[in-house]
Amino acid sequence: MPRLLQPERALRPEGVSSIDRADLVARYRRNRERSRALFDLLIDESAYYSQPIPLRHPFVFYEGHVPAFSFSTLVKTALGGAGIDRELEGLFARGIDPPTDQAAAGDPGRNGERWPSRSVVRQFARAADARVIEALTRDEIDRPGHPLLDRAEAVHVILEHEVMHQETLLYMLHRLPWDRKRCPPAYRPDLGGAAPQSAWIKIAAGRATLGVDRGSTRFAWDNERPRHSEPVRAFAIQPDNVTNAAFMDFIDAGGYQEPRWWRPDLWNWVRQADIRHPLLWERRADGWTWRGMFGPISLPPAWPVYVTHAEAEAYARWSGVRLPTEAEFQRAAYGTPDGDERQFPWGDALPDARHGVFDFTSWDPAPAGSHPDGRSAWGVNDLVGNGWEWTSTAFGPFPGFQAMASYPEYSADFFDGDHFVMKGASPATARELLRPTFRNWFRARYPYVYATFRCVKDFP
Ligand code: AVJ
Ligand code: FE
Repeated sequence: MPRLLQPERALRPEGVSSIDRADLVARYRRNRERSRALFDLLIDESAYYSQPIPLRHPFVFYEGHVPAFSFSTLVKTALGGAGIDRELEGLFARGIDPPTDQAAAGDPGRNGERWPSRSVVRQFARAADARVIEALTRDEIDRPGHPLLDRAEAVHVILEHEVMHQETLLYMLHRLPWDRKRCPPAYRPDLGGAAPQSAWIKIAAGRATLGVDRGSTRFAWDNERPRHSEPVRAFAIQPDNVTNAAFMDFIDAGGYQEPRWWRPDLWNWVRQADIRHPLLWERRADGWTWRGMFGPISLPPAWPVYVTHAEAEAYARWSGVRLPTEAEFQRAAYGTPDGDERQFPWGDALPDARHGVFDFTSWDPAPAGSHPDGRSAWGVNDLVGNGWEWTSTAFGPFPGFQAMASYPEYSADFFDGDHFVMKGASPATARELLRPTFRNWFRARYPYVYATFRCVKDFP
């Protein structure tokens, strides 16, 4: 029986709290320490107030936003506790991307903002942390039937929200000039050798489970619910992500100069912004380099290429193939030839570093195909880890979607047809997000996130 169908709830008697307070406090503290370590990479105050991605706020915002969100969601909204500082809570409330750089520039809250001093931000964060930890330790945080606290929902919301922002912080740090951050002493990327070459893999027709029901999992965001299944026709998939070497062929073939590979609005963007290659690539006199987190690297041919959805789609069209749908990805990753579904591509073992590159174990991707222990039942490599994978599915609600009361705008604000579902994980994705139903999403032109892709084609 597919593991996804076994309700966890059956394991505990009704009415007995399933929460382990010590574990939740430990997770909260671990998250805070990791966030702190990320801010410690910033070299000085000017880096702290800098804004390497115009669409996002400067770093200072996130040092306040994460604890402010945790405090507001759990302590104030869910538990009805008193505030700490109205003004700071408001300032740090929400940090979602406006649609374009122009819209960001026109928003006075972003560029004209006078941010508080770092000591004020940290003092506020300490107060928020203390109140959150007090709540986790003492308050009634698991209340069956409560709109925000059923299955301790608000607690999971704040824990997962923080690790998602750690990923945001990492790719913001990536955009910062190298002399503005501290390079860890032992840093050495795994550049690998030549890119892998292997034949397409056939995935038999079958069904894919998408989503999960509330009662059968510890926690899932609203966009992951409810559970349903979709038929998937037979298709063939690339066993590896498209590598830098493979993507180079598209560039050399003039792919960025040829309108027919691009949707019209995206072609306009390519022209207007003069896009000629993936964001992290740089053409130098002596060849292509990759703009690494801590310095330039001679472009590693075997690494998955990090690109926008627009570039991934253009590459696929040029190759005469297409991007996978969300259901196809799901079947290739979690399905098996005998019709079962598993918890992870490699089976049911808990994720560790043998299975792929995720959970902050590396600043960079590894060469494609270098984690055979993480292969799916069909033999497909790196489906979880080494870079999010773009799908052709527009981000939208599953049938029966209901916005979650603890954070109603989390997903629903992005059901606009402009965002695409990404699956899998990047090197900067925490292990708690590696469940099969987790969905990420960004706009087609969003170039900052560590996202790659692979292609599929119909099976004749
Ligand atoms: C789910 C990663 C698309 O970063 O925009 C953080 C997560 N939402 N705070 C984002 C999020 C609110 C979101 N993504
Ligand atoms: Fe946020």
